[in-house]
Amino acid sequence: MKVTIVGAGAVGASCAEYIAIKDFCDEVVLIDIKEGFAEGKAMDLMQTASLNGFDSKITGTTGDYSKTANSDIAVITSGIPRKPGMTREELIGINAGIVKNVSESLIKYSPNVTLIVVSNPMDTMTYLAAKSTGLPKNRVIGMGGALDSARFKYRLAEAMDCPQSELNAMVIGGHSDTGMVPLIEKATRNSIPVRHFLSTEKQQEVVEETKIGGATLTKLLGTSAWYAPGAAVSEMVKAIALDSKKIFPCSCLLDGQYGLNDICIGVPAVIGKNGIEAIIEVELSEAEQLKMKESAEGVRGTNNLLADVI
Ligand code: LAC
Repeated sequence: MKVTIVGAGAVGASCAEYIAIKDFCDEVVLIDIKEGFAEGKAMDLMQTASLNGFDSKITGTTGDYSKTANSDIAVITSGIPRKPGMTREELIGINAGIVKNVSESLIKYSPNVTLIVVSNPMDTMTYLAAKSTGLPKNRVIGMGGALDSARFKYRLAEAMDCPQSELNAMVIGGHSDTGMVPLIEKATRNSIPVRHFLSTEKQQEVVEETKIGGATLTKLLGTSAWYAPGAAVSEMVKAIALDSKKIFPCSCLLDGQYGLNDICIGVPAVIGKNGIEAIIEVELSEAEQLKMKESAEGVRGTNNLLADVI
């Protein structure tokens, strides 16, 4: 199993680190445009192999896509991260051109690759990658929902003072401060609905904190987060590599599911060796349906900007 990670910045490096430590894939290639940067990160990570006990091989390259040839999976983290006060959507002007170029370079050397898109605005960048590569729609996946669901569990665990491992909870919709749809009505702690433990006000607070999860970190860190994004990607890569058929909420190109067409947006999907093996259409309450519809309108608005920037 060969995995390429485009962008050796904080998210890309964290992704490579988790993939290496989990030790399920033999080869990880880090690629970056900054001279020597990916090589340096790869070397630093390889010097942890005997300490962390992994056998995965990590290499780095400055922009040489031939080194990524025959990758099974490629993760796109390239582009600029948001600064405090910025929305993810504001990054489209710079990131769209980068993501388009990167996607095209990747498939030139790995025509059968499965892409996982992390760059923001994530749903629109996933749509762009799907359209510009012409890859089958099961092989282009946007990462957001897996991360947002992890942040949802963090907030739920904090509110209920319980371990995160007891929770089952999911965020669908767009990966944006206004577009996320945390499915709190369906969230459970050991199969018990969370409304048993949390007042309506507290549930609403958890939902709001989840939606601004990325922005809260951007304010604290001065740039966008990397550990949880890296961990979320590594779990998705692992599900593909091991064909585990685990369900992740993630951005998928829809053709009719949830009443939506020709849009990439977060929905629950079974992830295995073919990428998106199936999209699960869960029954949504009226309130959830309305939020999903509004979220899709937001994503479509950002998609419409693509014509002006690439
Ligand atoms: C975040 C970025 C990765 O939410 O979108 O932290």
